[in-house]
Amino acid sequence: MNRKIALIRGDGIGPEIMDQALLALDAAAKKFGHTFTYAEAPMGGSAIDAFGVPLPDSSLKTCLDCDSTLLSAIGGPKWDSIDPQLRPEKGLLALRAGMKLYANLRPAKLIPQLKDASPLRSDIVDRGIDFIVVRELIGGAYFGEHKTWSENGEQAASDLMAYQEHEIRRIVKVGFDTAMKRGKRLCSVDKANVLDSSKLWRKVVNEVAKDYPQVEVRHMYVDNCAMQLVKDPSQFDVIVTENLFGDILSDEASQITGSIGMIPSSSMGEGTRGLYEPIHGSAPDIAGQDKANPIGMILAAAMMLRYSLDMPAEAEAIEKAVSTALEDGLRTPDIWVEGMTAVGCAGMGQAIAQRI
Ligand code: IPM
Ligand code: MG
Repeated sequence: MNRKIALIRGDGIGPEIMDQALLALDAAAKKFGHTFTYAEAPMGGSAIDAFGVPLPDSSLKTCLDCDSTLLSAIGGPKWDSIDPQLRPEKGLLALRAGMKLYANLRPAKLIPQLKDASPLRSDIVDRGIDFIVVRELIGGAYFGEHKTWSENGEQAASDLMAYQEHEIRRIVKVGFDTAMKRGKRLCSVDKANVLDSSKLWRKVVNEVAKDYPQVEVRHMYVDNCAMQLVKDPSQFDVIVTENLFGDILSDEASQITGSIGMIPSSSMGEGTRGLYEPIHGSAPDIAGQDKANPIGMILAAAMMLRYSLDMPAEAEAIEKAVSTALEDGLRTPDIWVEGMTAVGCAGMGQAIAQRI
């Protein structure tokens, strides 16, 4: 098969981890007889430097024209002091909105070989960590009206967290569908004891639940969820929540697995076209030093093959190669422990590609 993939190489460690994902994709293409062609779609800080805007129209068009998009990571201190409207993050938000990607899936799974890397106590970790955060991605406070004004001689600011029923219903359905494919347990997270948008959220969840009688549903306040995630993460199967809560909880979720450098995520809308990226950031402090862990990026490429390009065997070949490289004792600096073989970003990428 011929497939066209848009590439956002990003900032910081972005380009170096993307190189490793392309090695893996090309190895999979060779093994299974496919041709992948790549189209560059600059976005983020590098797009600001080259075009003066974080998401040039041509990049959005490229992403919409391709079968799917791979993104590494964007942003960095270099762009901290520019006009807030032009920050690299604005490019990411515009891309999510432009591609209508309302569902962001972020798995949190303990990799057995890296058990000791979790900051949680071993008796908690031993109960297992394997859940997925389904985050609403193009609504809520991120996309509500942002305002800053002067009042009584001081500045004031507000951000509107608004949701319409249809925006809630479509993401909640993704939550239920995901639960049906997994352990059939859905935890909807809100702040319905305070927020109107959360009260509406809860009402819609209860309505949609009627269509999924096999799924066990519970509601949890977001503060309690933040606590339960460190107390006993084994209780979760699928968490569905709104944009800002999902942003925060998914960082927490990745950290408790101890391997933030290893977790991929997907963002989907209607249809099969998606945006795939590792959940970590652009780590400007280690950029260009061959220290980054490329595994999250490589697993994002595998996730893309599975969910957008309908290539499950190809995805599995990449995932297996990652496990084998870890079993063979290879470790990038972020996950290295005594007795293991230290490799850099490129070394890990090559090791994985060779094992595909
Ligand atoms: C994420 C990031 C983004 C977000 C930032 C970079 C705008 O934290 O993907 O979780 O808040 O959505
Ligand atoms: Mg985040």
